[in-house]
This record gives sequence, C-alpha cells and structure tokens, in this order.
Amino acid sequence: MSLVGIIGGSGLTKLKNLEIVHRRIVRTPYGEPSGPLTFGRLGHTEVVFLARHGYGHTIPPHQVNYRANIWALHYVGVRQIIAVAAVGGIAEAMQAGVIACPDQLIDYTHGRHHTFFEGGDKQVVHIDFSFPYCERLRLDYRAAAEQLGKPLLMAGVYAATQGPRLETAAEIRRIERDGGDMVGMTGSPEAQLARELGLCYAPICLVVNPAAGKTEGVISLESLQEVMVEGMGRVRQLLETIVPL
Ligand code: HPA
Repeated sequence: MSLVGIIGGSGLTKLKNLEIVHRRIVRTPYGEPSGPLTFGRLGHTEVVFLARHGYGHTIPPHQVNYRANIWALHYVGVRQIIAVAAVGGIAEAMQAGVIACPDQLIDYTHGRHHTFFEGGDKQVVHIDFSFPYCERLRLDYRAAAEQLGKPLLMAGVYAATQGPRLETAAEIRRIERDGGDMVGMTGSPEAQLARELGLCYAPICLVVNPAAGKTEGVISLESLQEVMVEGMGRVRQLLETIVPL
C-alpha cells in the first residue's frame, strides 16, 4: 500500500481523526510548501496531510506554492493524492452541500507557476492530460461512498478560476457555456503538476454555494460558511472510509 497524500482546502485545515505520528518540514527547489507535512494514520491508511492554504488558512489561491506542495509530497514517497476543495455550483445537480468527484477540468487561471518543465537546457516535455484525474482513485472514492450509503456525484467539469474574488454572473454564464459544472480556485495547476510527476491525483469537491448569478441576489458568505462546516464533516467521514490501493 503506498503512502497517500491528502491536500485539504478551505474548511479542512486539519483532520480530526488523524493519529499524528510526526511533522516534517520539507524544503524544495521551488521554495516552501504551504506548511510542514503531517504524517499519520487515518483508519488503516498511512497518510500525509497538507493544508493547501496553510494551517492558519492565510495563503490565497493564487499564492499557493503548488509546485512546492506537489514536489514535497512526491519527495516523501506519496504516489497518490486525494485533493479536497470547496467549489461553487453551476450545473443543476451541483446544489450547495453536494459532494462531487469531477472527471474533467477547464483552466481559466493565469500567471501561476504551472509546470516543472521550464525548459532551460532540458528537453521540452509534454504530458498527456486528456483525462486529468486518476480513475483508479475516483473508483476508490465511489466504493467508500457506497460503503457509507452516502451520495457522491461521480461526474462534472471543474472550472479553475484565478480568485481570490468570486466570479461575476457573466463569467459564470461563460463558464457554463464552455461546459463547466462547478467552479473553484485551486484545481489548477495542482492537477497538472501532479500528473507531471506521475502521481495519481483526484479531487473531492464540496459545493458550498450556488455560483454567481445562480441564486437570487448576491452570494451569502454566511451560508457558504455554514455549508462548509457541515459538509466538510461528511467529507472527513468519506476520507476515513477510502481505502486506496
Ligand atoms: N467560485 C470560485 N471558487 C469557489 C466558489 C465560487 O463560487 N465557492 C467556493 N470556491
């Protein structure tokens, strides 16, 4: 069984039931990860946890050092990554509170360090990214949800936006026309960096609000917070039940 990395997003800066064994600071050629890596046991699985926005939730989506995070996890032996993220819902099925495991990605971010292959004196490298997420891990999520008897939406296109502001209603209409079903700010370049290092990576997304223009008036940040607290409780339960190979 290989070491499993869990990247926690907004609402999941720690794992309550993680039996912590030790913490480790990893330095990388790309700078500092979002924090020390937390090694421990979650149920029967050896995991390494990392809070994407820092343990105090202080790093905004466009300033997360995605390269350092992915490099550090790979360096300590992680070969599969469960990536948890909060998203806004665009498609009808993506109501607040729904947990979804997207199967596709559209990248609207810009100006982020999005590759380990920077050229220089090295050969140009292209990766295949037709199917951005690791199907084996997605099936492990489905099996865990079935075991719990809890719903898990097994499809959807994740649209990655720049943030930290939420989108305009017109931007969401455009993303919807493009085929986006849910919108978040951290799904890229995390997914492609993981693929570049040959890691098995798949997201678990909690819909915490209707995306801009998908509700009457403006987005309520208060109700977003409420959905986040309740929903991340269910995500934790799912994480404890997932048994990756
Ligand atoms: N847009 C982008 N990212 C998000 C949202 C949203 O509406 N909700 C949670 N993360």
